[in-house]
Parts: sequence; C-alpha cells; structure tokens
Amino acid sequence: MDIARARYLVSAAGREALAAVPASLDARDPLRLATELRKAYPPAEASALAEQLSLRARAAGRGIEGVLLTTHGLEMMTHPVVAARRAARLAGAGLPVVDLTCGLGGDLRPVAALVARAAGLERDPVTAILAAANVPGALVASGDAGHPPFAVGGAAVVLDPSRREGGPRRFDPGAFSPPWHTAVTLAEEARVAVLKTAPGIEDRHIPDAAEAEFVQLGRSMREAALWFGEGSRGGLRRAVLLPGDVELTSDAAECAGEPVPPGAVVFDPESCVTRAGLVRHLGALLGARLMDEQVAYLTAPETAFHPMAATFAVLEVIPFGVARLRQRLRERGWRPAEVRRRAFPVEPEELLRMLGRPEGDPVTLLCTTLRGARTVFIARRVEPPLKGRTAAVENCSGV
Ligand SMILES: C[S@@+](CC[C@H](N)C(=O)[O-])C[C@H]1O[C@@H](n2cnc3c(N)ncnc32)[C@H](O)[C@@H]1O
Repeated sequence: MDIARARYLVSAAGREALAAVPASLDARDPLRLATELRKAYPPAEASALAEQLSLRARAAGRGIEGVLLTTHGLEMMTHPVVAARRAARLAGAGLPVVDLTCGLGGDLRPVAALVARAAGLERDPVTAILAAANVPGALVASGDAGHPPFAVGGAAVVLDPSRREGGPRRFDPGAFSPPWHTAVTLAEEARVAVLKTAPGIEDRHIPDAAEAEFVQLGRSMREAALWFGEGSRGGLRRAVLLPGDVELTSDAAECAGEPVPPGAVVFDPESCVTRAGLVRHLGALLGARLMDEQVAYLTAPETAFHPMAATFAVLEVIPFGVARLRQRLRERGWRPAEVRRRAFPVEPEELLRMLGRPEGDPVTLLCTTLRGARTVFIARRVEPPLKGRTAAVENCSGV
C-alpha cells in the first residue's frame, strides 16, 4: 500500500465509503469486488476499498473489526486475546506506555483503552498512518525505535520486532528489526518493558534479567514474551494457556527427577509447558513422573487432569514395530484415530499409511523413545468429568 491510499482510507471520505459498502458484496472475490466498487468510486478509491474489504474478510472472527489493515501488518499483528492479557499487565504498572514497534496497533489498541497516556512508534510511514487511525487514543509517530522522537524514560515499553520475511519459526537473533541487541538494550533500560519474540527462543538467548513467558492460544503457540524491570523477576519462567488464562511458573514444585516405568496413565503436556521447561512442575501437579529424562510424556498410576495436559488411559504398551502394531490393532479391533509423537522419527501421517488404516474403536497412538527403545502406547483420551473442567487439577481414582 502507498501513502496516498493510506491517506484516503483514514480520511472522512474513505471511512464513509468503507462504512457504506453493501454487505452483499462478496469480499472473498477481490476482482469482482473491485469491478462492483468501480461503478460507484474512482478506480484508485475502488481498489483501496476492495483491498480493505478482502483483508477484513480474511481477519473475520479475530476480534479486530473496523481496524484498517495491510497484508503484512495483519500477518504480524498480535492476536487480540494475547494482546489484551499483555495490556492488562502493562496497565498494572501505572506508567505511560510506549510501543516502539506498534505496527497496525494490535498491541497498542488494548493498551490505549486501559491507560491514560499511550504512544506508538512505527518505522513504516504507511503503517504509521493506519495505526494512528486504528488507535485514536494514542499518539502515533513514524520513526526508528533506536532513536525514538519522544522520551521513553519513565515509560513502560513494548517491543515487538519484525522478523525477516520467510524466516524460520525458530529464533534467529540476526533476523530482527530493530536488531535484537538494540531491542534488548532498550528493554533493559526501561522501567518496565516487554519484548515479544518467537516461541522457539532458546534459553541461552534469554537475557538473565528477563522473566520469560511462553504463550499458547488454543493449540497454537503464539509467542515468547520477555518481561524486564519493575514487577518482573529475572530467570522466572511461565507457561500461559489462553483463553482461560491458565498459568504455571517455575516457582511451582517439581516432581522427582528419576524416571519411572510406564504406569496406567500417560500425560501429554501442552507446548507452552515444554517450551517453558516446566514439564516436571506439571508432573508434580498431576502426581506424575517422567519415563525418560529426554521425553516430555509423563506417567502416573492414576488419572488426573490439568488444562495444560491431555490425559490418556494406557490400553497397551508395546515395542515399536509396524507389523506388530498392525497385528495388535487388528486383534483388538482398534483404529488409530490419532497419532502423537515425542522423540520418535516417523511422521504420524506416514505411520498411519504404513498401518493401512485399520477399522475399529478409536484409539490414540503415543509414539516415543524410552531409554533408547522405540515404544508405542496404545491409549484412550480421558476427559475430565464435566464438573471438574474448570478446576485446575482434579484427581480421580481408577481409570
Ligand atoms: C511484528 S510488527 C508489530 C506488530 C504489533 N505488535 C501489532 O500487534 O500490530 C513489527 C513492526 O515494527 C516495525 N519496525 C521494524 N523495525 C523498526 C524500527 N527500527 N523502529 C520502529 N519500527 C520498526 C515494522 O515495520 C513492523 O510494523
């Protein structure tokens, strides 16, 4: 998008035109949409409106209705559920908040709704124009986070550096803008700061001064957020599962480290737990232990539930072998409806293909390597009793 288009979209004429587009126009067909709009608007305005409508259709259901979008800005925008949680913590600091890489305002919007003074900085002028319109409650300027045009001392600072396009999901300190070391320095100098980064960040890249939280929304790992300054504690690790705001921190007790043989129940922790390095902490809450120090599956003699783990009743444990597994499934009349794996070389889809998709009662295969031996748990998912689904942990006798 160019500056002229952005200026049109934030103008009174652009806003009125966007609001007036009939809902009957199908935004999923951009070409037809642009043709229809050209009947009522000059070509440049028609294509600006068509672009917004198709981006809004793509963002539908994400809770960002009415926000002006660019393709890139939408891809990089923090999910509103994640942003709302971050904004609440920032507001709790009682300081003005400055978002030094505000993008289209995904983080800044909920902040501005909660604090009296909020400001955003954005290097890309087009994005800055749209952000100013998206967050009328904040002062938004165009500029470089390394040289902010306003004072950030005494503020709570937000940094969400962009990653090189097409870059790997895993953490690469060379791939950020502003550069990683600039972002960390800015964060360490602020009274309060949060630096958002890839969930795959390794421990060695997390500054000692930072408290790190690993945030998951539904089944999807969203980010690692590093908190600095007042109200945070260097070295603390936190797993966060949204929505529902379930948290587990490294302050919790850990289960004993010595691995145990498989019991009647196996637990598969959510990614936020494994990323945060809190599997043993979760084990203590579940009354469970590891079966192998290198594998995040936990086991226990009895069923227990926690929102951060899937609970499985073990039907059989067998050494891995395709022919053996296929035969056992046939004998028992079981159909592998789901395959999960940890420290296991075969892709789930590939294993299902090799097994020939037998028919029968649905079971889950948990494939792993325990003390060097490839092992398969044939298991059945156990859901918590309805009354207990909101409780953090519930123990039930028997399986
Ligand atoms: C990941 S996006 C931020 C998304 C934002 N948190 C949101 O939820 O909408 C990063 C933004 O930082 C901007 N940016 C990159 N380098 C910058 C710099 N040196 N100074 C200011 N902004 C920068 C990019 O243009 C991009 O819009």
